[in-house]
Amino acid sequence: MALLEIDDLHVSFKTMDGVVRAVAGVSLSLDARRTLGIVGESGSGKSVTAQTIVGLTRFPNAKISGRIMFDGRDLVSMDADHLRDIRGARIAMIFQDPLSSLHPFFKVGHQIVEAIRVHEDVPRDVAKRRTIEALRSVGIPSPEERFDSFPHEMSGGMRQRVMIAMALALRPDILIADEPTTALDVTVQAQVLELIQALRDDFGTAVILITHDLGVVAQMCDDVAVMYAGRVLEQAPREVLFDGPQHPYTWGLLQSIPRLDAPRSDRLSPIAGSPPSLINVPRGCTFHPRCPYTPPPALETEPPLEEAEPGHLVRCHLSVEERRRLWQSLQSEHPALR
Ligand SMILES: Nc1ncnc2c1ncn2[C@@H]1O[C@H](COP(=O)(O)OP(=O)(O)OP(=O)(O)O)[C@@H](O)[C@H]1O
Ligand code: SF4
Ligand SMILES: [Mg+2]
Repeated sequence: MALLEIDDLHVSFKTMDGVVRAVAGVSLSLDARRTLGIVGESGSGKSVTAQTIVGLTRFPNAKISGRIMFDGRDLVSMDADHLRDIRGARIAMIFQDPLSSLHPFFKVGHQIVEAIRVHEDVPRDVAKRRTIEALRSVGIPSPEERFDSFPHEMSGGMRQRVMIAMALALRPDILIADEPTTALDVTVQAQVLELIQALRDDFGTAVILITHDLGVVAQMCDDVAVMYAGRVLEQAPREVLFDGPQHPYTWGLLQSIPRLDAPRSDRLSPIAGSPPSLINVPRGCTFHPRCPYTPPPALETEPPLEEAEPGHLVRCHLSVEERRRLWQSLQSEHPALR
């Protein structure tokens, strides 16, 4: 059985401009010791999906339906008190900007000690020892001294390490990392990703890694879900996805992986056009306004997420044979895709 099973999750927000359908029927599962990558352009519903798992989208204007099964219980219908017990201790989350999750007025060591003591009945000195151990294991130099630092006294990379140390000290079953390295420079990015990998390998923590970067997915993830307009368009084990991607949107993302010699600004416009408004989602296939293929049914009916081969799900009206043929011809046009 999967460790976490998301089943037909819908999340919408009522706003002044209309109802934002941020997540529209997402089903995903995460197995123990696996890393699931969620990729997609800005506004595809990645963060809302992740935040809903830990109950962070329960705003008065939000409507949430579907199920998120964890350890035999449904997190969607769970009351806030029980969910608070799970958040942090069993499902930890780290964000792009660690400053937003660290309290500015408390020393970082103290914050980790408190986080441990909220969830576990351990004496302060034991919690402190565990904190220093955790700070050490994420590569923070002189952790005994750093224990007494304030967040603003640390660099962005160090703060992200502190967040990972906090996650590590609590030994969660699942770590959700939402763009954990976007704000960091390249070398620090690599170190933080290595730490997350180590956390998984050493403690068996399952990871959900949200990123714009397919390169990171290729390097880190066991399974991949490609999201667009609140939906999963393609989902497969990593090797399957990179060997034979079958969705036109995924092809677009792959074509836009920046070359190392390309300037950073090239990352900004991956596919012609932009993602749709989530208030007025296109009829039929949500990707059709940007898709170069568009068989007629795509304009009217939304394709279901269907199994193209074992473990490989694709939401597209084209037949598997057509998709294979198109991918092959794309590869012959663009050698970089091979
Ligand atoms: N509390 C909220 N109220 C209204 N709309 C929201 C709220 N939270 C998120 N949204 C909207 O939901 C949509 C999905 O947002 P989400 O943050 O999940 O995207 P994302 O895939 O994480 O994008 P990014 O890559 O930019 O982080 C966006 O259109 C966003 O504006
Ligand atoms: S269903 Fe049609 S429009 Fe949508 S991705 Fe497939 S080919 Fe493109
Ligand atoms: Mg996001």
